[in-house]
Amino acid sequence: MSHDLVEPPKPLGREQSLALVASFPSWYHRIYLGDGVWTLGGRGFHEDVWGQFSKALPADLGGRSVIDVGSNAGYFSVETKRRGAGRVLGIEFIDMYLQQARRIREIWDVDVEYRQSDAHTLSGMQERFDLVVFAGILYHLKNPLQVLEDLGRICDDAILIETEAIPDDPRNGVVVRQGVPAVPEFKRKGMMAFIERDELNGDGSNWWVPDVECVMGMLRTAGFVHLSRPVFLQPTRLCMVASKRADSLLDLAAFG
Ligand SMILES: C[S@@+](CC[C@H](N)C(=O)[O-])C[C@H]1O[C@@H](n2cnc3c(N)ncnc32)[C@H](O)[C@@H]1O
Repeated sequence: MSHDLVEPPKPLGREQSLALVASFPSWYHRIYLGDGVWTLGGRGFHEDVWGQFSKALPADLGGRSVIDVGSNAGYFSVETKRRGAGRVLGIEFIDMYLQQARRIREIWDVDVEYRQSDAHTLSGMQERFDLVVFAGILYHLKNPLQVLEDLGRICDDAILIETEAIPDDPRNGVVVRQGVPAVPEFKRKGMMAFIERDELNGDGSNWWVPDVECVMGMLRTAGFVHLSRPVFLQPTRLCMVASKRADSLLDLAAFG
């Protein structure tokens, strides 16, 4: 995690930690297990994302509730919990990642619930949350606006979003009817590219890549009308925070 020098409260010991890492065919999250053992080498991109999100988060989340969509091995779930969140629920549909998350939860001794669920099924959820973590997930969804609207209905405050995105480029655009009466015009922004197969990174689980205007428009449509500045952490990776409330717990101005 981002706290290289902090040992987890319930480490397994070096040999067992190494065995745990090796027991899974792969890891996506780099998480510290104690005794000098990490799930992955190098630095995880999620650590940079958390560093960016942290700019808007208060030092203490004061018991606020969090839903982490596409929680993977639980990096953001654990970090929000360690920052003082109350209820934390991670939603993930791949069993191997849930198994990883449950082992990490024991080692870090945090009270996080993980639920095997498809993000497209959130419309039936009755529970409400103060914050939504929505990192690395939008472009994996077949129906991202539907999921954002579902989240908008169950969220009382803010969303922290990170996604693959189309960078601004004068070559991008589409001729589409605009205005009243509508006539064909060249529209440069507010688009989302459809990925039918595995054209993006050879990964067939990618479906849509939006540009910044499209992300902002979808957030507003979902009710998150107060938007931070968009920040690109990599040339095609966009981070933002957005809230339904003018008096959000998050400091939107500090995000840039
Ligand atoms: C690129 S990883 C991002 C993980 C983490 N949120 C982060 O930003 O580091 C995407 C994660 O979302 C999960 N995921 C993708 N589509 C999902 C869906 N429809 N419902 C639930 N989880 C999903 C994947 O299994 C994977 O763990």
